[in-house]
This record gives sequence, C-alpha cells and structure tokens, in this order.
Amino acid sequence: MTTKRAILGLLMLPLIAVAGNVTSPNGNIELKFSLDEKGRPTYEMTYKDRAVVLPSHLGLELARDKHASPDLNGHLLDGFRLIDEKISTFDETWRPVWGETATIRNHYNELAVTLRQTIEEPKYMGNGNEPGLALIAHDRTIIIRFRVYDDGIGLRYEFPQQQELSYFVIQEEHTEFAMAGDHTAWWLPGDYDTQEQETQESKLSDIRGRMQEAVNWGNSSVAVFSPTGVQTSLQMKTDDGLYINIHEAACADYSTMHLELVDAQTKALTTKLGGSSNAYTPNPVGCAAELPQPFTFVSHLTPDATGLKGCMQTPCTTPWRTVMVSDDARDMLSSNLILNLNEPCALDDVSWIHPTKYCGVWWEMIVGKSSWNYTDEFPSIKLDQIDWKKVKPNGRHAANNEKVKRYIDFAAKNGLDQVLVEGWNVGWEDWANLWKRDVFDFQTAYPDFDIKMLNDYAHSKGVKLLMHHETSSSTQNYERHMEKAFQLMNKYGYDAVKTGYVGDIIPRGDHHYSQSMNNHYLYVVKEAAKHHIMVNAHEATRPTGLCRTYPNLVGNESARGTEYEAFGGSRPDHTCILPFTRLQGGPMDYTPGIFVTKLKEWSNNTSWARITLAGSLALYLTMYSPLQMAADLPEHYERFDDAFQFIRDVACDWDESIYLEAEPADYITVARKAKGTPNWFVGGKCDENGHQSVIKLDFLDKGRKYDCTIYADARDAHYENNPQAYTITKKVVKKGDILKLTEAPGGGFAVSLMAK
Ligand code: NOJ
Ligand code: CA
Repeated sequence: MTTKRAILGLLMLPLIAVAGNVTSPNGNIELKFSLDEKGRPTYEMTYKDRAVVLPSHLGLELARDKHASPDLNGHLLDGFRLIDEKISTFDETWRPVWGETATIRNHYNELAVTLRQTIEEPKYMGNGNEPGLALIAHDRTIIIRFRVYDDGIGLRYEFPQQQELSYFVIQEEHTEFAMAGDHTAWWLPGDYDTQEQETQESKLSDIRGRMQEAVNWGNSSVAVFSPTGVQTSLQMKTDDGLYINIHEAACADYSTMHLELVDAQTKALTTKLGGSSNAYTPNPVGCAAELPQPFTFVSHLTPDATGLKGCMQTPCTTPWRTVMVSDDARDMLSSNLILNLNEPCALDDVSWIHPTKYCGVWWEMIVGKSSWNYTDEFPSIKLDQIDWKKVKPNGRHAANNEKVKRYIDFAAKNGLDQVLVEGWNVGWEDWANLWKRDVFDFQTAYPDFDIKMLNDYAHSKGVKLLMHHETSSSTQNYERHMEKAFQLMNKYGYDAVKTGYVGDIIPRGDHHYSQSMNNHYLYVVKEAAKHHIMVNAHEATRPTGLCRTYPNLVGNESARGTEYEAFGGSRPDHTCILPFTRLQGGPMDYTPGIFVTKLKEWSNNTSWARITLAGSLALYLTMYSPLQMAADLPEHYERFDDAFQFIRDVACDWDESIYLEAEPADYITVARKAKGTPNWFVGGKCDENGHQSVIKLDFLDKGRKYDCTIYADARDAHYENNPQAYTITKKVVKKGDILKLTEAPGGGFAVSLMAK
C-alpha cells in the first residue's frame, strides 16, 4: 500500500533481527534464516553440524528502468521486516516418464518467509507557491521459500502481484553462497555463450590464477565476464570430505545463473575480463562497496542484448538456487533434488515419449571426412535464389540416399530405434558464424536426400529417422519456420528433433543463456510437444530439471560432448566429472560409443578419443540419458561386433539405479535395472589413472541365475597406446557373487546381467 508522509527524512522503523530454522527430514541439514541489522535476508546451512554455507545475504538489485511499473528506485536487498513465517512438510512419491529410477520421493521441510520493505520516493507535491517535496512510502512484499531435503536445499524468491511491484527489471541478483573454506572445485569459466570448455580442477583461491588459461581455448562464441566467474553446476569438495554442489532448478522465464567468486583479490564485484566476441559493457553493481568475505560466490545472471538481466511481471518467481551436500560422493549422483524442485509434468498425454537408441550420419562430418553442405560452388547462398538441381555437387555430401539407407539397414539389423541425419536440408553452404538471418528453412531437402522414400524405407524396417534443425542461433528465423517444419516432421513420421545453436545469437547482441533465449528454448519444447515431438537441443542453456515438467525434452548437449574428441580431444577424466556437474540438471546427449579412437586410421583428422573401447561401453551407464547414440560408423561397429553386442543389449530407461563407487574426476561405477525387466547392467568409468573395482552383486534377485557378460579392458589396455584391447568373459552368476574388475588408464568396463 502507498501512504504519504510529508516529513522529509523520516527514518524507517528500527529493524529487528529475526530467525527461523528448519531441518531436513532426517535432521542432517539445518537451515537458518534471519534478517541482519540492516534488514538484509540472510541464510546459513549446516550438514551434520558442519558449516556448508556461512551466513549469506539474499536479494536483488533492480534497474531504474522506464519499463518498470511503478518506476521505483530501490533494490530488493535490505530494509526488510518479517511479516510472516510458515513451516510445512511435504512427502510425495512420483513416477518420471523416463529416468534412472521408476519412482522418485520428494520429501522436504519448507520455510517460507514473507518480507516487507518500505521504500520512500521523494515526490514534488507542492502547488507552486510553497515548497512541497514529500516522501511517498511504498511497501513491497516478497517471499523467500526454502526447501530443505536430506541431500540439500533449494531457495527461491517469489514476487506476489502487488501495486508497488508489478513490472520490474533485474540489474543483478545477489544471492550469496559463502563457502566455509578454500574447497577444491571442478569449474568451467563463467561465459554467456559457451559451456563446452574442459573442466578445471583447482582450489577456490586458484580460480583467478587459472582463468586466463581456462578461457583461452577457442570456440565460436566466447563471452567471459569475470576473472573469478564460474558456471553451475559447480561441484566442490572440502578438505574434510564434504561434497557440495551449487546449481539451479526450474530456470524458466529467467536468465541462467553464473557464480562470481569473491576472493582475496576481489576489489569490486564488477572487475571484468575482456575477450568477448559479443562486446559487453558491465553495469555497476550497487552493493559492491560492501564485499562479502572471501570464498563467497555471488550470483551473476546472464544479460540480454540490453545488458540487463531480466524483465519480470508479477506474480512470478526466480528459479530455485540449490546447494546439495553429502559426505558420500555417490549421493551427489543419486540425488533427485533438482528434479524434485521442478513442477510436475505439464503434458496430459506422454504415451508418445520414449527412450531412444540411435545412430547417425554425423561422426564422419564431425571428423571432416564428409560434409553437411551439398556444393562448394558458392561462397554465399540465398535460399530463394538457387535451383538446387542445377548446382554442382561436391561429392562429399553425407546425407545422401545411399548412405542414409546403409545407416537405416544397420539400425534395423542391430535394434537401434532411430537414425539421425544431419545436412539433409539446404543452407549448409554458409551456415555458421556469419550472422546470417535467413540461414535455413528446415523444410527443403537437398536433391540427393529423398525425404519420402527414406522415411518410408526406414519405417518398413521398423526404424525412424531423427530430424535435425541446426538453427545457427538465428532464433527468429527458426521460430518463423518452426510450425511448418514440425508439420513436415509429422507428415513423414519423425518424432524427435535434434536442434542446435552454433555461433552468436541473432537477434544480435543477445546471449545463449539470457532470459529471452531461455524463453526461446522452452517455447520450442512446448511447441514440439503439441506435435508429439521429442527435443534434444545442442548448445542450448544448461538444463535445470525442466525435463520433469516437459518430458519431451529428452536431451541436451550443453557441455563438451564427444565431438571434441575430433577437435583435439578431451581429458580422460572428463566423463568422470560430467555426472557430478552438467548431468545434475538433466541428461546429456554425449554421443558416446567411439570404437576407432585414432581418427587418422580412417580420415585426415589427427585428433583421437582419449578412451578405451571398453570405457566407451561404460558411458552408456555412467552418463545417464534416455537418448543414447551409437556415434561411430557402422563399419567400425561391424569390426568389433562382439563388443557392439553390449550396445545392442543395453537399456536406456531404468527401474533402479545404484551408484556403487564415485569420486569426482576419478571414477564412477553404477548398477542399473532395465525398466520392466529383471535384467541389470553395470558400468564403471575411470580417469587416466585406472581403477580397481570389487562389485558385490547383492542387488540381484535372490534365488535367480543371471547370464553375465563382462566387457573389460585387457590387461595391457591403455587409452593412448592400446585402446582396442578388451576381453569378453561370460559366466553364470547369482546374488552375492563378487566381480573383480580392472579398469585401464582412461578405461572402464560394462557388464550385462540377463536373468535366466
Ligand atoms: C554442434 C553440435 O553439437 C553437433 O552435434 C552438430 O553436428 C553440429 N553443431 C552441426 O549442427
Ligand atoms: Ca556442440
């Protein structure tokens, strides 16, 4: 409510610090909320009485912007008083459409605090004859909601609809996460446009020193913003063995959050690092004068082309900010905190959504042996001015009828559900990094790709084609063509699309992870659902569990995928980190399964995949996804058909998952029970040091026998000089038996356990 007070400079009522506590259902996690002496919302968090988050402030800085209504000056940072405090409990078990387990328990205790702030606006109220400057007081109400689980917390800001806060623009969010020490962190440089870097492992105090090296890697879109800015999901480990992970959940109609570390050298939160291809001028941060203590992360949102961070209309909420914690690394991997903090499924009919194993006309283009484009004749093309039948083919176009049929035959023979075909549609001649708006129409096929014939052929063999829509980040162009493109998919029987966002965003100046782009990605998913189409978006923002609400979002890349094995390679520990970080928000289309790792054996590419063949099999288990690619060429799988049997057999939807061993960047071992069957699969993947696993099969059914096939690294296997040395051992096992397995450097193992 607005009240008028005519006395200039009337002070606010003195603020009283108040506190609310809530513990997790098992009592291990305790969260305390208070308002400090300045009325700043403050929280802290412990796990088994050990500090996880030291007292940290919460709040948002608003932009003084003509689009705000009313146009108030004043941040949502301090001056709050407690109006209401509600504690409640929730316990529900739900069934994901697809997932690592058949059911998920969502059990938390909640604290919701209603806070009110009175801000005063000087306003001229005189009649011209006498001075009449008055202070108009405005009350603004927000709710901060905390959910405390046994494996972590979520907190978010909620903005009820109110006269005094109906439209507002976010300059920056200032959610703090004050760490209790100089933890080890696995981090990616904060970047508005890419998340495909190698992970850095360092102490928090070394992030600044490592940043230059971390950003110096070469990608088409790099927009770093701070010498201490990192991405989420951020995995950490304390010196005394606590695993802490910071991420976010349900990021919708809001920009993606980064974390900016306040370290010993932080002079101001606005210290910026250059190197952006999309020049970005930082806005001053309001509360920079009062820096939090060292080892505090402060939220840093991705701006859009205006440099601002978000346009809000009440009622609305921010995404959840999450802090997961455990003294057992396996709990980081089995946690469902992010999914639980998302809204239940929004789709009435999900019968058309299914797990999918696929191969594709893809890897040979990625390694440079064949091309997406059909002709090399023109340096630039205009889609409406070319007669494709008359242009000269370059002879390297991979998406041709003959080759696609070969892949369809291979998929049909090996029980793969779908065949991805990239480069089927016109426009690939000048598609990337040219800021070309009308780059694709997603409907016109190249002359050597007969869309009807190939879909008919695939369907006759029980296989589907998997559509590809590279948008080249020209998002308006995609939105213009999308309805017709989806209709075309429906017409020919496609039910899944892989989208892509390579290069700088058009509209120009926008960033991959801004509020407007996050709205675009979700719009595509929702529109696709209307057409019963599943979506796998590459280069889109990192997932935050929205796949619970929209389970047709079956995959995302949003990190460094297998393609980088053809671009210089990824470290062998890469896949032992991703499940702790990138996969927290949802599955990754990692595109595993490279059997011929030395690419020069069959192409001019001198890069090589840093993994053994048995390690490649393990990824189908350790990198959970309902969408799994067999990425190598059919002829390579035919060479190693006995090992390929594992890819034929492995499921990609599960009733149960048990993480048996885990340590970030070292090793991960998981056992999973295939959905609707008594069969189990076990996978182990390790870093460059190798690993020994002793697995007790106590998860098997009592009294049952299983045909066990073990695909393991041979004694002399090594990711660098002997990657294809593997053994296949068969035996019959029962509950309680023990498997002793040796993983080679950069290797792993895969085991199938088929009930007899
Ligand atoms: C990058 C994607 O990650 C890759 O899978 C795709 O082949 C290319 N863009 C072309 O769209
Ligand atoms: Ca990519």
